[in-house]
Parts: sequence; C-alpha cells; structure tokens
Amino acid sequence: MTVEQKRPPAGKLALITGASRGLGRAMAVALAEAGAKVVLVARDRAKLEETRQEIERLGARVWTFQADVTSEDQVRELERQVREQAGLVDILINNAGVNVRKPLEELTLADWRLVLDTNLTSVFLMCKAFVPHMRGRGYGRIINMTSIMSWVALPGRIAYCSSKAGLLGLTRALALELAPENITVVGISPGPFATEMNRVLIENPKLNQEFISRIPLGRWGKVEEIGKLAVYLCSEEAGFITGTDILIDGGWTAQ
Ligand SMILES: NC(=O)c1ccc[n+]([C@@H]2O[C@H](COP(=O)([O-])OP(=O)(O)OC[C@H]3O[C@@H](n4cnc5c(N)ncnc54)[C@H](OP(=O)(O)O)[C@@H]3O)[C@@H](O)[C@H]2O)c1
Repeated sequence: MTVEQKRPPAGKLALITGASRGLGRAMAVALAEAGAKVVLVARDRAKLEETRQEIERLGARVWTFQADVTSEDQVRELERQVREQAGLVDILINNAGVNVRKPLEELTLADWRLVLDTNLTSVFLMCKAFVPHMRGRGYGRIINMTSIMSWVALPGRIAYCSSKAGLLGLTRALALELAPENITVVGISPGPFATEMNRVLIENPKLNQEFISRIPLGRWGKVEEIGKLAVYLCSEEAGFITGTDILIDGGWTAQ
C-alpha cells in the first residue's frame, strides 16, 4: 500500500507541541501507533529524547525540535527546520500549556502574560506558521487543547480560564476560515487528567480526594483516552467535525 492509499492519520506528518510529557506525549504515541510520522516540540531536551525513544521503539518516524512556542522568532525558525527536515505538516496539535493557580490579588501581570502567551498566543503563532503547509492539499487537521475551563470555571484560575475560553473562540473562527480548504479545526477539552500540570493536586491527599469527588465517573482521566480521541479526530471519519469542541471530562461539565 502506498503512503497516499493509507487511511489518515497513517502516512500523515503530525506536529505536537508540548510533546515531551503528559497529554502531548500520549497523543504523539497514539498517532505514531496509528501510522503517523511525528514531530515533537517542547523546551526540555532530555524529556523530548525520552519520548523520541518511546516512539522509535514503535518503529515510527520521529523528529524532535526544541522550541519555545511563545516566541515568534523560534516558531518561525521551527517552521523552517521542520519543512527542511521532516516535510509539510498535515496535522498540527497545539497542546503546550501552563497553569498558574492564584487569586486575583496574588496574580501578577507576568503570571497573566505567561499563561496567555503559552495557552493562546502560541496557538496563533503556530497556526500562522503551519497552516500554509496544509493549504491546497485536500486534508488538514488542527487540534487545540482547550479545557473544561473553556466552558466552566474555578476560583483561582482567572488567567487559565481566560486563555482557554479565548482558545475556544480561536478554534471556532479559524475553523470557518479553513473549511473551504478541508482543514478541520477542533478543540479537545479534557477534564482532570493526572499529569505534571496537576501534580500539586494529586500529591495533596485532601485536594486529590476533593477533586475526585467532583468527577461523576470518580477517577482521573487516563492519558491514553486523549490519545485515542486525537487519532479519531485525525481520521477521515471525523472529517465533518470542525469548529467545535469535544469534552472528555468524566461528566464534570454535565453537573
Ligand atoms: N492535565 C489536565 O488535566 C488538563 C485538563 C485540561 C486541559 N489540559 C491542557 O492540555 C495540555 C497539556 O497538558 P498536560 O497536563 O499534559 O501538561 P504538562 O504535563 O504540564 O505538559 C505541558 C507540556 O507543554 C510544554 N510547554 C509548556 N510551555 C511551553 C512553551 N513555552 N514552549 C514549548 N512547550 C511548552 C511542556 O514542555 P517543556 O516544559 O519541556 O517546554 C510540556 O511538554 C495543556 O494545554 C493543558 O492546559 C490539561
């Protein structure tokens, strides 16, 4: 079977930001298992290398690039290097993210900018850089990691909720712009998943129990569950899903 005859995401080139750990890593592994070639982007070289080795063991093609996705210069240079070394990107997963949990009085402008730059502005920069790879080729997928905090809120999450609600708006508007090119743009809104981002909650038995008691399914999400969803969204069967957001939250937002 030639590459062209394979069913997406097989044979496609997927770039995942924040792929060094957590949900980004899980999506990279799942896409590689489904036959995609993967480009991993993050800042931590050692962690990127660990993910690369895991994916190489699956027999998939993999490239790693160190970049800070909040920097316009670094994103521009990343695009140049990816194009030269790996080729044109078919699937872009904007997953890099950060959370700062502080009440209004303690939240500084620097905290606010860090969260907005990482969770929202970086997606604008990455889409500016990589959408040209997808134009005119009849297939393209952009997945933005939104959050249940795009839909609902918690105290102490002003910057995070603002960034993720903004990202949902970006997802919808960009989907409309890119629909004529058959490039879909979809959000994945995870509920609580036990990753590094939630370590402060998981390691505090009281907070951990409090959190679990708020999840109707009574458990943290498994990172593999996000990986499978990303693979589905990149398939041809998901080609009619665009400009929307898929909640995967154990029932959190149904309450
Ligand atoms: N876990 C959850 O429960 C949950 C719930 C809802 C939404 N989400 C969203 O899902 C995404 C992934 O979350 P996660 O739980 O996997 O978080 P995580 O374990 O903290 O991983 C975050 C990833 O983003 C990368 N990153 C952060 N800032 C970056 C920057 N400036 N440039 C490049 N890479 C950067 C980190 O790598 P380096 O530090 O090496 O750069 C890391 O690979 C985030 O957007 C998060 O908001 C998570």
